Amino acid sequence: MTGILPPMHAAKILVGVTGGIAAYKAPGAIRRLREAGHEVKVVATEAAFRFVPEETLAVAAGEPVHTDTTWWERSGRVEHVSLARWADLVLVAPATADSMARAAVGLGDDLLSATILAGAKRVLWAPAMNPEMWANPVTARNAETLKGWGHRFVGPAAGSMASAEELPGVGRLAEESEVVAAVEAFLGTRTTGRER
Ligand SMILES: Cc1cc2nc3c(=O)[nH]c(=O)nc-3n(C[C@H](O)[C@H](O)[C@H](O)COP(=O)(O)O)c2cc1C
Repeated sequence: MTGILPPMHAAKILVGVTGGIAAYKAPGAIRRLREAGHEVKVVATEAAFRFVPEETLAVAAGEPVHTDTTWWERSGRVEHVSLARWADLVLVAPATADSMARAAVGLGDDLLSATILAGAKRVLWAPAMNPEMWANPVTARNAETLKGWGHRFVGPAAGSMASAEELPGVGRLAEESEVVAAVEAFLGTRTTGRER
């Protein structure tokens, strides 16, 4: 990666990709984090693959994606524990309303949720959903619950939605640069100064 200064403190970042329309943007964020010198692993939910191909995520990550399938391989590894220990920060981008709800009630029925439950050190949520879903009191309550445990949020942003049926509102995935800045702020590290 020529021309890119290593960050002051390269970190281990686990990017959780969940099943929302904005999942197609996840490879861009993964690449940006790697370009900033961070080590990145990716865990995706089954629903995520409805919106972004596994191979695209794997190429962005430079290694295979961790999935519910790899979780249940008879490998002798307990992936949710090893990933939780490995990661300095878990970034869920995009985060569905569903993934936030699972974390807020302590469900661990998929690899990403179980990893968060297994003691992830820092969790940063980048929600993306229809504005009504984001404004729904149950989603708002879940976000407050997660914040109460020290989780952080970046976005969602206001603007137009992917579907022509929807009116503009608050629900868009935060811009890539904002997501990366929020990661760096949470880690307490400096950026490379190579902002785009
Ligand atoms: C076409 C379509 C688009 C969707 N977009 C979103 C979305 O942007 N945000 C969201 O929270 N849920 C969205 N959903 C619902 C999620 O896919 C659904 O809640 C799913 O269970 C999420 O699973 P996951 O959190 O395990 O990835 C969408 C569903 C469909 C069929």
